[in-house]
Amino acid sequence: MKRLLSAAFAAAIFCACSNAPTPAGEIVSGAIWPDTQGVHVNAHGGGILQYKDAWYWFGEYKSEHTSNALVGVTCYRSKDLSTWENLGVALSVSEEPGSDIEKGCIIERPKVVYNQKTGKFVMWFHLELKGQGYKAARYGVAVSDKPEGPYTFLRSGRANPGIWPEGIDPKSISDEPLPEKSWTPEWIAAIRDGFYLKRDFEEGQMARDQTVFVDDDGKAYHIFASEENMTLQFASLTDDYTQHDGKYWRVAPARQNEAPAIFRRDGRYWLICSGCTGWAPNKARMYSATDIHGPWVEYDSPCVGPDQDITFGGQSTYILKVERKGKEPQFIFMADIWRPRHPIDARYIWLPITFKKDGTPVVEWQDSWKLED
Ligand code: GAL
Repeated sequence: MKRLLSAAFAAAIFCACSNAPTPAGEIVSGAIWPDTQGVHVNAHGGGILQYKDAWYWFGEYKSEHTSNALVGVTCYRSKDLSTWENLGVALSVSEEPGSDIEKGCIIERPKVVYNQKTGKFVMWFHLELKGQGYKAARYGVAVSDKPEGPYTFLRSGRANPGIWPEGIDPKSISDEPLPEKSWTPEWIAAIRDGFYLKRDFEEGQMARDQTVFVDDDGKAYHIFASEENMTLQFASLTDDYTQHDGKYWRVAPARQNEAPAIFRRDGRYWLICSGCTGWAPNKARMYSATDIHGPWVEYDSPCVGPDQDITFGGQSTYILKVERKGKEPQFIFMADIWRPRHPIDARYIWLPITFKKDGTPVVEWQDSWKLED
């Protein structure tokens, strides 16, 4: 790995602030990250898939003046996690008027997983229909025979219509309207007890900020901000990973978590997410559980360093597990520094995760670092 890293062309990487070249293989959060053609990587809110001897990075293509999807989901490939080759558009928006993924819609936080049983690559993303702002709150799914695509759009929708989540007795959810004044104890309690869950029961649950997680046993889960972004829902997927299988449960109801990123280490699941302040950064939240169904216990933010209380200016998107021969795997925390007025110039934060003696993750700011083999 080290050899590959040093061989990288990353001499071309320039630090955003100083414009000074950084040594080969360095990962410099917040800087411009040129691909092999010298163009800043355009794959925001992304996720990474390791397949055979390469990593594939999928993300939102952002334009100069809009975050709406004018292009689709892009794919980059790397063998060292610092040299990225642009493989083009993995999922294209459609030119067809009325298509769910019509050019100008919103496609966010795409994640791709590989299904061993079918040999297919499955992409899940957050979809908002063209011209409707964030109202539709749908998931979208697409598949491909090759990691880089092209992906075929399968469907979009709300999650689990007509199904109650695990651990909820629908009779216990009040029929009263939501208290008018928000953020009062009564308002929070009504949402925690299932107000939006019940409201959306027939149509299906809202699905916005999202990720997909494949567990060690091959079972996959779709994790998304639901219930007006007030509650995360975990929904298990069918064996081919292309549909919800009807089982789902709520995590931290009424805590208003977004941007979920998850990993598993030594039998414990760790979930890092953000609060809900749009493109503006806020303090990361963290949860742990020994069973993916919960109970999930809240921890303080794992971030340490300058701007730790605003996640170093970023918002979580993914946690990558990098296996290393004869060593503990390296987990990498990945986040986006959004630039809403100039979306294409959004930046990336990638930092190594270390662990306290009791196993609690720590994400410490580093101006630059290298992945060691
Ligand atoms: C954030 C969310 C982003 C995007 C943005 C729009 O909270 O994490 O993915 O949806 O809001 O304002």
